Amino acid sequence: MRLDVVTIFPEYLEPLNVSLVGKARARGQLDVHVHDLRQWTHDRHNTVDDTPYGGGPGMVMKTGPWGEALDQTLADGYDAGAHGPVLVVPTPSGRPFTQELAVELSERPWLIFTPARYEGIDRRVMDEYATRMPVYEVSIGDYVLAGGEAAVLVITEAVARLLPGVLGNAESHRDDSFAPGAMANLLEGPVYTKPPEWRGHAIPDVLVSGHHGKIARWRRDEAFRRTAAHRPDLIERCDPAAFDKKDRETLSILGWAPEPGGRFWRRVEGVEE
Ligand code: ADE
Repeated sequence: MRLDVVTIFPEYLEPLNVSLVGKARARGQLDVHVHDLRQWTHDRHNTVDDTPYGGGPGMVMKTGPWGEALDQTLADGYDAGAHGPVLVVPTPSGRPFTQELAVELSERPWLIFTPARYEGIDRRVMDEYATRMPVYEVSIGDYVLAGGEAAVLVITEAVARLLPGVLGNAESHRDDSFAPGAMANLLEGPVYTKPPEWRGHAIPDVLVSGHHGKIARWRRDEAFRRTAAHRPDLIERCDPAAFDKKDRETLSILGWAPEPGGRFWRRVEGVEE
């Protein structure tokens, strides 16, 4: 996969040389190009922003440098096969970044990121490139960062670990929170390693029972417990048809019940967590 990042803070992307993404680059699985947006400015001050039309606080990133940067990045060319590049624009007003979107992006051969500073990029830049390629405006959460660079790091890491051969053990994706499958919509429960006792805290006995069925059941119950506590919205989204008898028992103990004839579960008042 090829990644291009155009930014006014190229040094912010240094972490792309480290850890999983760094190793994927070293192995040739990821071809990363970071560009300084200011190289496409032509004035003495290397200006990339200007005051907003219509007034208001802050500054808006100008069309000119972005247009030249993206034209040249695209013209440098990369054989993306049948699929061309995708433009990924991190912004708090974008669609939420989810595991599903990470999977979708991981299937594209070429991602071009345009992290913005200030109040964002002049709308016409996204409108122009949307005539040539898919443009995904993406938010990594309901908070406002000082710029999109940290979001690029987040999105890149989530996408890179899904690329074939990047994680040592392909099975590692299987139990991810938010991964599709039997545990879809459930958060992962707690994990433990040696020693079996630490500062008076013992590991759950079932994990050393050697009984795979019981271990799987315990993990699923813990996933329900954690999801009910941290993300009740995810439980409400589950399809009860995907639950077995024990799932229903566990949910009932946690204070959830099926809505009469409905597909969602809701919290029953007065039951302790
Ligand atoms: N830029 C500023 N805040 C952001 C957010 N929450 N997600 C993506 N890009 C951003």
